[in-house]
Amino acid sequence: MSDNRLIIFDTTLRDGEQSPGASMTQEEKIRIAKILEQMRVDVIEAGFPVASVGDFKSVRAIAETIKNSTVCGLARALDKDIDRAGEAIKPAKSGRIHTFIATSPIHMKEKLRMEPNQVLEQAVHAVKRARQYTDDVEFSAEDAGRSDLDFLCRVVEATIDAGASTINIPDTVGYNIPHQFGETVRQLIERVPNSDKAIFSVHCHNDLGLAVGNSLAAVLNGARQVECTINGLGERAGNASLEEVVMAIRTRQDVFPCDTNIDSRIIVPASRMVSSITGFPVQPNKAIVGKNAFAHESGIHQDGILKSRETYEIMRAQDVGWSDNKLVLGKHSGRAAVKARLKEIGIEFESETALNEAFDRFKTLADLKHEIYDEDLMVIANQSRLEADHVTYKLVSSWVCSETGETPHAKVVITIDGKEVTGEADGGGSVDAVYSAIKSIVPESGVLGLYSVNNVTNGTDAQGEVNVRLEKEGRLVYGKGVDTDIVLASAKAYLDALNKLAVNIDREHSQDNGI
Ligand code: KIV
Ligand code: ZN
Repeated sequence: MSDNRLIIFDTTLRDGEQSPGASMTQEEKIRIAKILEQMRVDVIEAGFPVASVGDFKSVRAIAETIKNSTVCGLARALDKDIDRAGEAIKPAKSGRIHTFIATSPIHMKEKLRMEPNQVLEQAVHAVKRARQYTDDVEFSAEDAGRSDLDFLCRVVEATIDAGASTINIPDTVGYNIPHQFGETVRQLIERVPNSDKAIFSVHCHNDLGLAVGNSLAAVLNGARQVECTINGLGERAGNASLEEVVMAIRTRQDVFPCDTNIDSRIIVPASRMVSSITGFPVQPNKAIVGKNAFAHESGIHQDGILKSRETYEIMRAQDVGWSDNKLVLGKHSGRAAVKARLKEIGIEFESETALNEAFDRFKTLADLKHEIYDEDLMVIANQSRLEADHVTYKLVSSWVCSETGETPHAKVVITIDGKEVTGEADGGGSVDAVYSAIKSIVPESGVLGLYSVNNVTNGTDAQGEVNVRLEKEGRLVYGKGVDTDIVLASAKAYLDALNKLAVNIDREHSQDNGI
């Protein structure tokens, strides 16, 4: 591996899925894995096989499907975890086991209740056991960011000797500051005698908003793998965001001694897909993938941009997968044209059936909205989950009466497990009335914690995208709905979230496993 290549290790499907409310089905995980492969992500952490049967099956299915990225399974430094991870990655063309144990004083004393030497021994044992399944073993010193540097050096040296070819230094609780974290990585590489036998990696959490800054500082100090997630998804405040790391390095080649292999044009489609599947909205001002990331509002900026783009833009929107918002298709466009344009913006379908369904949605939308933009196509492509047949609650129809001076009234018809039910209610506004009507007939409840509406493109005929979050007994779920009518989009988002609440989770949350 040359020194000027930075390995991108994506953990959207593992750490990303640990975000409360972000759980995904196997089919959804495979779709995300495929777009990550298309983006040329080097390593895809597909899950934590020992956490549940569902996690095991997903990792295995991804290992069977993905051919051009390494597929990785996470394992605590325990035999049963490692054996399960080894089994799950077996079909992979290139498979990795990522094993970890905590090395910080607080984790060793309070969580593991182990002496440092026992931790070191267990780490070495775990790496050796993982090597029985694959030559590609990564070791993580969990909470390295708060570990004693001398002890960390001993653990790193011993685990490299035991056969780990990647050493990951996580800032598990997002406590570090860039210059300090960079220095930790530099010292480790300098002081560990066999450091040249491994690639140093970092995995930073965003509790202080410094995950990307810390990752970049580590790269400047010799790290050659960064662990990150699409949209910065992840435990608590999330992980370093893939799009920000990749674009910082690509844009500032004058500063960084390395670059990634990533096809940056897939970034926006991947961000959309992850947001659509998890239901987690992307904040409009989010760097690279936020709706406003390339929008110029001030007259002075607009004037500058018109004279020379570089006055206020450091990257080209097209290079990260934003289209120039040009009108692409209309109601007379055929299937081949839709398929070709989808391909141009990085979206391919795994089956003809999926393409035909997307084309049907395109036709329906083209009847309502005559000008179809790339952003609309991205929404159409990600809509299959929202309209899946196997869900518990499906919207059949909705009627709302809203008149000045009168209380809005709604009548909603939905199917519950295939059986039609009708609900009616008044509300403070049209959306409130529809939600109350749904609540009157659905056994599932939940407290509405978030409700937001965004337009997908400009204009009053644009599709509205509604995101909601429900909480029930400590469990969070997100729902998304898209429609040219925002009251219908709101109803769809609410039902999407209720459908998620209706699904039993078979998975032990990894927090329960002591991560
Ligand atoms: O944050 C963390 O330390 C982790 C490890 C399992 C790498 O997610
Ligand atoms: Zn993590």
